[in-house]
Amino acid sequence: MAKRRMLLVTLVFSLASLAAAQKRVPGEIPLPRTSPTSGLEMYRAYCADCHGEKGKGDGPVVPVLKVVPPDLTTLTKRNSGKFPYDRVYKTIDGSVAAAAHGSREMPIWGPVFRTIGKGHKGEAELRMKTLANFLASLQEK
Ligand code: HEC
Repeated sequence: MAKRRMLLVTLVFSLASLAAAQKRVPGEIPLPRTSPTSGLEMYRAYCADCHGEKGKGDGPVVPVLKVVPPDLTTLTKRNSGKFPYDRVYKTIDGSVAAAAHGSREMPIWGPVFRTIGKGHKGEAELRMKTLANFLASLQEK
């Protein structure tokens, strides 16, 4: 009985901190909870507003950005036919800043994912791997 109650308390507490974590996002946009294993779900929730539904760089918020997001379906084509997995992963994570591109218009997701995945070791990394693989699947032939 006591054990069960403990479990419930833990659960409610985790949900509360999750809800709090969801509010801590760049630009204060509420961050929807998504599955770390669904690239499509995460892409639609976190990326499509800027990068566009199909990755073409035509999302609804583009008019207010200083830098137009690049076409994410031509990453392979623009990299001599090889998908630049490492660079993509690091761009999402924020360890390769778009500073290389001379701007910081691309949000840094590593710390955000680490916050929402608090307590789940490796969840942020899984999210970024899933996203990088999802982008690989969008490449033009
Ligand atoms: C607020 C708008 C915005 C959001 C949201 C956003 N991006 Fe970006 N992204 C950009 C912009 C702008 C650039 C170009 C930055 C530059 O060149 O300085 C970019 C660049 C990139 C690049 C590098 C592309 C290249 O040609 O090298 C990748 C990869 C990328 N974004 C992936 C993502 C993913 C994955 C997400 C969601 C987790 C995401 N972005 C969310 C605006 C955004």
